[in-house]
Amino acid sequence: MQLRCSECHYGLELHTRELECPRCGELLELIQGSVIKHPADLKKLWLQRRTSNDARDLSGVWRFREFLPEYPAEAVVTMGEGNTPIVRGTRTAEYAGLKNLWFKHLGWNPTGCFKDLGMTVGVTEAKYVGAKVIACASTGNTSGSLAAYGSRAGLKSRVYLPAGKISVNKLAQTIDYGAEVVQIEGSFDAALETVVRSSTGGVYLLNSINPFRIEGQKTTMFHLCEQFAWDPPDYVVLPGGNLGNTSAFGKAFEELKAAGLIERVPKLVVVQAEGANPFATLWRTQANELVPVAHPETAATAIRIGNPRSWKKALRGVRFTDGFVLDVTDDEIAEAKAVIGSDGIGCEPASATTLAALHKLRAENRIDREARVAAILTGHVLKDTDFIIKRHQREREASAVESK
Ligand code: F0G
Repeated sequence: MQLRCSECHYGLELHTRELECPRCGELLELIQGSVIKHPADLKKLWLQRRTSNDARDLSGVWRFREFLPEYPAEAVVTMGEGNTPIVRGTRTAEYAGLKNLWFKHLGWNPTGCFKDLGMTVGVTEAKYVGAKVIACASTGNTSGSLAAYGSRAGLKSRVYLPAGKISVNKLAQTIDYGAEVVQIEGSFDAALETVVRSSTGGVYLLNSINPFRIEGQKTTMFHLCEQFAWDPPDYVVLPGGNLGNTSAFGKAFEELKAAGLIERVPKLVVVQAEGANPFATLWRTQANELVPVAHPETAATAIRIGNPRSWKKALRGVRFTDGFVLDVTDDEIAEAKAVIGSDGIGCEPASATTLAALHKLRAENRIDREARVAAILTGHVLKDTDFIIKRHQREREASAVESK
């Protein structure tokens, strides 16, 4: 594997701690060398590993390690992340108006969200390069995951959180795993700026601008394709915040296609909340540059982000897959979330943007009823319990008024 600038392709040493191109300032990316194995042999090998007790084979990330940076087995920091199922639901399919809808539930990872898939690689790399302190800005999930994997690796964690704007469950989880918490006035964007400025010397930054995290998150799509017997769905729908996951999925499809592992690439559909929608606006207006939202606002606090750093990489992924971007309102998110709950699946608000978008796209006839769709649920239902209780209370009050 090689490290290079994602825009000007300037090459860097693989295990450098740089996160931006020294020449043009853009984000970095890891580049897959040629994989020598035949696609059929790789598929067989990955299946065989499911019967092994090697810690790397028990991980749904490291099982696909031919497409990851290489480390000695004992250097890998893993908690068996990534082995999440795809599930179907009657009510959700009916609500979406789709015959073939699956959820890939990344909330069923060790810390209850998709960040674990990136953190297993990011923290492995941090430890490998000798970092002592790891840090991130977060809307709550990255911080929990970073703290957990950091503690497993014996590293100190420092997290920068927008004060009063993250779910208390996520804050509690982050504290429980032993992180030092720095509260920042302002949004996630201000917290990210602060952490980038302070991550020098011994502090290793683990936001999704770190290309090693993207590698781990990429394997979600390798696993999904395997779950679909390498005949992937027509659409993959996911929430977009800082756009690390969109970048990771786009990269996965480029690599899966280039290696001959899949013949056809699903369309990536990225969904933002209306109050934090700079990427959806960029898409709608076909602008050349992203215009940040100065004061992002949404009850889906995980994606309350106005200035997504990875928008260029994400745009490349959406274009490569012939996908598109849209936004949904907080009311649409809340309604869709309750439907996902009613199917016994459950998720946090940001994840429900997926079903909300599908409902809308079907209503506008922009997706075929027969289409095969995988929606990515990014966080567990218990990640934001306040949201659930408040909505429940509001509904009870409304029905009490109605029955008077
Ligand atoms: N869904 C959930 C539950 C999230 O926590 C996030 C991001 C996203 C979707 C969006 O993913 O940023 O890759 O586009 N959470 C980050 C955090 C920002 O700090 O936990 P993205």
